[in-house]
Amino acid sequence: MPEEKKKVTISVIKADIGSLAGHHVVHPDTMAAASRVLAEAKSKGIINDYYVTNVGDDLELIMTHYKGVDSPEIHEVAWNAFKEAAKVAKELGLYAAGQDLLTEAFSGNVRGLGPGVAEMEFVERPAEPVVVFMADKTEPGAFNLPLFRIFADPFNTAGLVIDPRLHNGFKFEIYDVFEGKYVEMSAPEELYDILALIGTPARFVIRRVYRKHDNEIAAVVSVERLNLIAGRYVGKDDPVMIVRAQSGFPALGEVLEPFAFPHLVAGWMRGSHWGPLMPVSQRNARCTRFDGPPRVVALGFNIKNGKLVGPADLFDDPAFDETRRVAQQIADYVRRHGPFMPHRLGPEEMEYTTLPQVLEKLKDRFKEARLYEVKGPKVRTGLLETHE
Ligand code: 13P
Ligand code: 13P
Ligand code: MG
Ligand code: MG
Repeated sequence: MPEEKKKVTISVIKADIGSLAGHHVVHPDTMAAASRVLAEAKSKGIINDYYVTNVGDDLELIMTHYKGVDSPEIHEVAWNAFKEAAKVAKELGLYAAGQDLLTEAFSGNVRGLGPGVAEMEFVERPAEPVVVFMADKTEPGAFNLPLFRIFADPFNTAGLVIDPRLHNGFKFEIYDVFEGKYVEMSAPEELYDILALIGTPARFVIRRVYRKHDNEIAAVVSVERLNLIAGRYVGKDDPVMIVRAQSGFPALGEVLEPFAFPHLVAGWMRGSHWGPLMPVSQRNARCTRFDGPPRVVALGFNIKNGKLVGPADLFDDPAFDETRRVAQQIADYVRRHGPFMPHRLGPEEMEYTTLPQVLEKLKDRFKEARLYEVKGPKVRTGLLETHE
């Protein structure tokens, strides 16, 4: 393959391996431990380049390489970095050390083992701007709304209307994370059907976006849902996303624009509450109030000859001050509902609940209420069950 056609891969792999003072912030010594592993992988030529950062209590590894997506070698590097970081976390007695590492043994791929993964492979353009979004205290479906707006909403992305390279629209690969299936859908033709799915972000998650006319990858999201993998609550699957920008993709400002609206996402305290997604600079990516509010960081890079140039801390900008203020107001407002829905998630989406124990305790105290004939409503566990 001629050198200029060689495909570069950007892999963003994250895990919560333990944090300082609660689910708050990654400790610098654990980041240093992860960095040492990546530095060694770089010196051996396994990866081309890397950037290690954190968003709240999530350790984020951003890597470039020529080994493609799902490479066992790259996943092993990431796994080792997390293991080394977790070892330090244990030594320091950090909170929830090793939280997202669900197994002791690595078996060729980190997917299903706990870490979140977003990777894409492409032929580098002469200028290759990418934005890496990383969120804490929320779930992968939190990116549904902004992704729809970036790639399908002409009121957000002017390019969909006025740039001939975007005008054909984009394809969305949507995962049903409950059923383990996915469907490819096309915008603008299927806008309403797409929204019918992705408006239920706990279940239907946009995994990838492709430019329609040439199938170029435009965006990818980590869709791992830890509690579905582990079968118990282990954290809220804090997601990452990579988006390509400019020259035939949405402009940088079109990629960032949806985040000016602090939409409500599931997560926050104990992974069991709705709250506004606050765009913040990396230095403010540390959750405090009620373990939140949920936060998102955007780092902008250029990829050149397989290396990372940057980052630019894109939400470190007064242009997002008003968004943060509104998010804070929403947070205050919704918090006042305390344990009531819709601040607290619905019973089917809560990460843990005492409801069964409370019902069990009260079962002999419940008396027959002869109000009307109860037609035996279904126990609604799934999200798609309908009333007859
Ligand atoms: P691109 O040609 O890189 O898409 O830039 C368009 C633009 O002017 C952004 O505002
Ligand atoms: P993390 O998913 O970020 O570890 O947070 C879990 C939690 O319970 C916060 O209250
Ligand atoms: Mg945590
Ligand atoms: Mg987290």
